[in-house]
Amino acid sequence: MDTLLDVRGLVAGYGPITVLHELSLHVGRGEIVAILGANGAGKSTLLQALVGMIRPTAGAVAFDGHDVNGNSPEQIVRRGMTLVPEGRRIFSKLSVMENLRMGAYSRRDRAVALEQMDRYFELFPVLADRRNQAAGTLSGGEQQQLAICRALLSNPSLLLLDEPSLGLAPVIVDKVFELIATLRDETGLTIVLVEQSVVDALEIADRAYVLSNGRFTAEGTSEQIAELDLEANYLGGDNA
Ligand SMILES: Nc1ncnc2c1ncn2[C@@H]1O[C@H](COP(=O)(O)OP(=O)(O)OP(=O)(O)O)[C@@H](O)[C@H]1O
Ligand SMILES: [Mg+2]
Repeated sequence: MDTLLDVRGLVAGYGPITVLHELSLHVGRGEIVAILGANGAGKSTLLQALVGMIRPTAGAVAFDGHDVNGNSPEQIVRRGMTLVPEGRRIFSKLSVMENLRMGAYSRRDRAVALEQMDRYFELFPVLADRRNQAAGTLSGGEQQQLAICRALLSNPSLLLLDEPSLGLAPVIVDKVFELIATLRDETGLTIVLVEQSVVDALEIADRAYVLSNGRFTAEGTSEQIAELDLEANYLGGDNA
């Protein structure tokens, strides 16, 4: 398979503290890859290192054939890697439409982006209905859709999702995950999905990595990882 993201021996942390210990992973074009881990395992740190928000202290990150290690977040977004951060970070006072426009800020072809918005409105009809509503008045599931749609407007080839299920009721989680799967199926987008919701994530992922205290402890197809029964057998958290 055509590899879109190839990470080798990534080491990263905060100041003197090393959080990620020589992580290697690969993501093929069009794949959904899940990164599973408990609180504090290093999931968000990994995503932040990939998008240039934290500078790795060792290792190599190749994205779409380019070495992007040490690039700025703006350069990485332009290359096509976009993060939907944990907790969504939408602008609650701004309208849905204004939030979406901000997603296109890094693009030179903003007119094209606005045309794409119409296409995305078909995938996210609730956002079309509520386009003039203040984003802070949307429900949690709607806000997650807004955060995803805003990220799509930067025209990514790789979308990184940091715990999209966080704070959502189970039935809403199902809806959001269904939408993520549809997005991949209909647009060919490649997705890295960071989650603690193991069962939901494995339902839509092709492959998965298990992250525990900054190290990958298992890797395989979703079927193989599902057999480990992680939720029953403990994800391997802070005190592993
Ligand atoms: N800005 C920071 N400065 C110092 N240490 C940090 C910082 N952010 C995270 N850490 C530490 O790095 C480790 C990994 O944190 P990280 O946020 O990556 O975990 P996570 O897997 O995303 O957890 P969660 O599921 O709770 O979001 C933790 O021990 C955390 O305390
Ligand atoms: Mg996190």
